[in-house]
Amino acid sequence: MIFKKSGPLRGQVVIPGDKSISHRSVMFGSIAKGTTEITNFLTGADCLSTIGCFQRMGVDIQADGSHVIVRGNGLRGLKKPDGILDCGNSGTTTRLISGILSAQDFSVTLTGDESIQKRPMKRIMEPLSQMGAQIRSVRGNGCAPLEITGSRLHGIRYISPVASAQVKSAILLAGLYADGETRVTEPALSRNHTELMLKSFGADVRTEGTTAVISPARELYGQSIAVPGDISSAAFFMAAGLLVPGSEILLKQVGVNPTRDGMLQVCRSMGGDVTLYNETSDGEPVADILVRASRLHGITIGGDIIPTLIDELPVIAAMACFAEGETIIRDAAELKVKESNRIEVMVRNLSAMGADVEETEDGMIIRGGKPLHGAVIQSHMDHRIAMTFAITACMAEGETTIEGAECVNISYPGFYQDLRRLSF
Ligand code: S3P
Repeated sequence: MIFKKSGPLRGQVVIPGDKSISHRSVMFGSIAKGTTEITNFLTGADCLSTIGCFQRMGVDIQADGSHVIVRGNGLRGLKKPDGILDCGNSGTTTRLISGILSAQDFSVTLTGDESIQKRPMKRIMEPLSQMGAQIRSVRGNGCAPLEITGSRLHGIRYISPVASAQVKSAILLAGLYADGETRVTEPALSRNHTELMLKSFGADVRTEGTTAVISPARELYGQSIAVPGDISSAAFFMAAGLLVPGSEILLKQVGVNPTRDGMLQVCRSMGGDVTLYNETSDGEPVADILVRASRLHGITIGGDIIPTLIDELPVIAAMACFAEGETIIRDAAELKVKESNRIEVMVRNLSAMGADVEETEDGMIIRGGKPLHGAVIQSHMDHRIAMTFAITACMAEGETTIEGAECVNISYPGFYQDLRRLSF
């Protein structure tokens, strides 16, 4: 797909549903008793993988666009699927479902696409095994395919080496089925959607600092869930609105949970004009976000803020190319094990456009202010890389070609249409 430098971007975008919350709404609805009604469900390929997996395990899920009805089977009502479960490109599906499958009364194999088969699964295999799960990497390389045989589980106290909501959530979900309390302590707090949503489904779950604690559940109960817009999707338009001269973009109904809002903080610290309106909170805080073109300056980003903006770091790195001075991103080694190695892929693609960017052990150093030019961008079929470069192209001289641009389907099927609409 070919992109050109853009004029001012003006207008509003209704941001599609949050990916993390959409996954969880179907998963928890599937193991709850009764009906769960979901509105603004994200119809991206990742969340459809989650629906597919639970349908294969006998759950009645009716999806009509972003309106989804899940008639749950209860905590112990899933059925053995008649083949391998396909998690597609979705790390969230693979890791969270593993926590649930560890406690069922059947064996199952799950796998996904080429990218998912390279992503680290030992991070869930270890704690789940400590709980008594039988979980094996079929090729013995710590990656999917995974073979899981349901077992009786014990509560554990787990100190996680990584701040990962997927790891935390896999353990908490297994903890629903354990014979005692389960505690997960993280080095920094990761997104807490699992804790918030499980609580609304009736689970006994609480947070003590960076520790999540769950007690075994007898049953969960179906809920109505209005999924907020995904701040990780809004981030691309926040960047575009701040960078492209003369722009003003209103992003409607975006989730601004404090465990996800690092992008707001970074934009403001870089000098960005960002205002929140209509803030509400029904469990998950939501707001409209207005961004106006601004002069940005470089900053240092590291420490506990990293998990709150981990998926936004590619677009933040792109923003830094247009900011005055140096931006340092550190403590972000997790970027190497996302849908692609996002440090390597960002540095390579930004360099191809003429940016002054350097790879480090756990992040990047970007010296902003060099004008960028169009180039051929390899998305590596990573949705966030493709969207980052569609935005970067708005600011670059000449033509930018994005290879594999269609992968935005994973998290934001209408992304290019929404971007195009803003430029008219
Ligand atoms: C997610 C957690 C994060 C994030 C991913 C979604 C989730 O991954 O990058 O896009 O829904 O729990 P990690 O848990 O690996 O940090």
